[in-house]
Amino acid sequence: MIAGNWKMNLRFAEAVELVKTIAGGIEGLEGVDVLVAPPFTHLAQVRQALGTTKIFLAGQNMHSEMSGAYTGEISGTMIVSAGCSHVIIGHSERRQYFNETDATVNQRIVAAIRHKLVPVFCVGETEAQREADATFSVLDKQVTDGLQGIASEDLVDLVIAYEPVWAIGTGKTATSEQAQEVHQFLRGQLAKAYGAEFAQSVRILYGGSVKPANIAELMSMADVDGALVGGASLEAETFSQIVKF
Ligand code: PGA
Repeated sequence: MIAGNWKMNLRFAEAVELVKTIAGGIEGLEGVDVLVAPPFTHLAQVRQALGTTKIFLAGQNMHSEMSGAYTGEISGTMIVSAGCSHVIIGHSERRQYFNETDATVNQRIVAAIRHKLVPVFCVGETEAQREADATFSVLDKQVTDGLQGIASEDLVDLVIAYEPVWAIGTGKTATSEQAQEVHQFLRGQLAKAYGAEFAQSVRILYGGSVKPANIAELMSMADVDGALVGGASLEAETFSQIVKF
């Protein structure tokens, strides 16, 4: 799976244009699921522009309640009605700037499942945590707490995105060996909690400064099943190159 996280970028018309060009650029391509996550305001129109193409649509976040007095928030019901099949949950920017915690991430994953949305569940360590040799313990906690109380049969199609915080938008990509080491660890933790078969079925994406020049190397690793792409997903040709690597 190659997923494009557009973050807080693009005007309405630009978003529609971008997705149309991406769809044209990767038409007929087999063997890869492609997903785009536009800002909320653009979802319905992007869905319409996608027509019958197989590109999946994701929200960048969602609130855990279905509706109510939560000014400025967006619910799972809303993004489903706009045409989403997936939702990004727990992105490090949400954790860093909007006070999301493992507990709120867990509530949102539970709510996503209730709406039959596939969660793209993001985890990742900061530079300080990596330097303090805390990478694995941080990730273990994020995964354990994020999925707490959720049964494996509710996590069919689960996507996990490993995004080292120090690699997001910095131009510093984890080496393919660093990514593989973490992905293997994450799969091992999933196997311990849910069994090996389930762990094999989970797609673990790498995210953090993915670009056409490093995608092939990352994807050559056994446990790297795709990428979550930020900056490089905003330009159709660049994103298509990543999808087609
Ligand atoms: P980046 O962002 O590709 O711009 O580093 C990745 C992400 O935050 O999903």
